[in-house]
Parts: sequence; C-alpha cells; structure tokens
Amino acid sequence: MKPRIFVTRRLPGPCFKRLLEEFEAEVWPEWRHPPYDILLQKAVEFEGIVSLLTDNIDCRLLTEGARAGLRIVAQYAVGYDNIDVDCATRNGVYVTNTPNVLTEATAELTWALILATARRIVEADHYVRSGEWYRSGTGWHPELLLGMELEGRTLGIIGFGRIGRAVARIGAKGFGMKVLYYSRHRAPEEVERELNATYVPLETLLRESDVVSIHVPLTPETRHMIGERELRLMKPTAILVNTARGAVVDTEALVKALREGWIAGAGLDVFEEEPLPPDHPLTRLPNVVLAPHIGSATRKAREAMTCAVLDNLLAFKRGEVPPNLVNP
Ligand code: DGY
Repeated sequence: MKPRIFVTRRLPGPCFKRLLEEFEAEVWPEWRHPPYDILLQKAVEFEGIVSLLTDNIDCRLLTEGARAGLRIVAQYAVGYDNIDVDCATRNGVYVTNTPNVLTEATAELTWALILATARRIVEADHYVRSGEWYRSGTGWHPELLLGMELEGRTLGIIGFGRIGRAVARIGAKGFGMKVLYYSRHRAPEEVERELNATYVPLETLLRESDVVSIHVPLTPETRHMIGERELRLMKPTAILVNTARGAVVDTEALVKALREGWIAGAGLDVFEEEPLPPDHPLTRLPNVVLAPHIGSATRKAREAMTCAVLDNLLAFKRGEVPPNLVNP
C-alpha cells in the first residue's frame, strides 16, 4: 500500500513525478497556501504532509493529525520555524528538511544583495530608467552614485553553518575580505584557517564589520537578535544583509537605522511580514535593496530540494529513519 501524502504545492523537477508515482498523493492546486482549516483537515486524513515555510504546522495540527495517523512532515526548505518540532516529536511525527542542496544558491543571492547594496545598483538602475541621468546632461560624473569597495574590508557573518560559511568563502577568496563570525558554536580550527575567519563576540562583529550578513535560523533565541542596540553598534558606513529569516531583525529599528543613517544600507530577502505590503516604510527608502524571499530560487536548487523531500519520504516508506530528520 502506498502511503497517503498531502502536498501543499506543486514542486519543480523530475523528482516530483516520482513522488506522485511512489505515493498516493493529493496536491494542493493553488500557489497560495492552503487555509489553516484545510491543512488541519488534511493532517487527520493523511499519513504525511509536504509543507512549505508558509504553512503553519502548529501543535494543534500535529496533535490532532498524529492521533489520526499523521507520521511525517517533510518540509520543502532548510528552515522549519513554521513547524512546532518539539510538539511533533512528542507526538511521534517525523519532521524533515532539505539542507545542503540550497547552500550555494542562497550564498550567491546573499552576494548579489551585498554587491547591489554596496554599489547602489537599484538606485543606479532607477536613475537610468527614469530618465534622470539623461535629463541631468552630465554623462560620466566623478561623484555619481559612489558606493563601498569590498576588497580588503571586514565581513561579519552571524551564524556560521553551511550557508554562513559559503558566504564567508566567497568573501575571503573572492574579495580578500577579513572574516569575523559569531555563532553558538565555534567552528573547527581548520575551517577558521581555510576561511581566514575569526570567532568574536556579537558586539565586536557589529562594531568592526563593513558588511554584516545574517545566517541564523529563526528560534525564540534569535527573534529580534538585531534590534536598536545592535544596529547602533554598527558603523555608519556599514551595510546589513539578511537572507535568513525576517524576524531575526527588528524591522521597526531597522527602518529607523536606515532613515537616520546609523547604517549605510541594507539588502533584504526576508521580512517579518511576507509578502511585504507595497506601502511598507522599507519600500520608501532608497538605501535598501529588496527581494521576495528568493535565496534558494535557482532551478538547480529548487529541483534538488524536491529530490531531497522525495528521499526523506522514500526512507519513511521503507520504514527507515529519513536522512534529513530534524527532530532532536
Ligand atoms: C529555506 O530553505 O529555509 C529558505 O528560506 C527557502 O528556500
């Protein structure tokens, strides 16, 4: 008998076809997430759920689901702050994620934001498209849109897991940057040596870095980890980049920091509220580059994420522990 799986969105790549063959699957037909009451109903009808980070897999859903036979939630993402993992564990429900396959894609997007923010690419694009450059009549101009050169600067990485290290590698090897990092655990010495990275307290990192890039998961400990106090510690010439989770940064404090020049700019792929409303104060600030949570959005990464979900589900089907289990 094929296990019954509810899939909350159609997923890209050939592994999705295989998933539909290996399981008795129902796929939510829309791009908008299923409303909570439908998800709840599916949790009690199905043995497994393939979830996205926009699906609220809370304790009520997990408890009622597990009582009726829910056994696995296979998340299509590396982050899983939308799932109450402790509650899943108490109820005997496996939770899996898709690490590794999106590391480089997310690191590259981080660099796209670092470069775009440091070199003011969005302002520059607007300047050309809007005709302002043409109307100015100046052509090449010695003081036009000056930004920050990265070569030899200090890169501060908050969270030194797979993605944080990949970002550090590009900074160290590609731009000759000095890398500072802050993390719950210190990295092995050979990693520090290879990446020219120094472990420092968060305060030191914020005070000394020219680019601060966030790579921690969202947990109760990291929620609003970067607030007014931390932003005031940063250099007025520094930029902040967040491709992790929006709520790691206190948005209100960030808007104030950008408006009042405590920092020079920000590159943001993630927000406390997603989708970001078009009238949000962040959209009015010229020194911010915004992206709609596309860190892992390369075809290669997204198709590989589908394969990772499939691998987790196939292991479950065989009665084995899935390879990317996140339950403690
Ligand atoms: C993740 O995987 O957690 C990203 O935010 C989406 O790919």
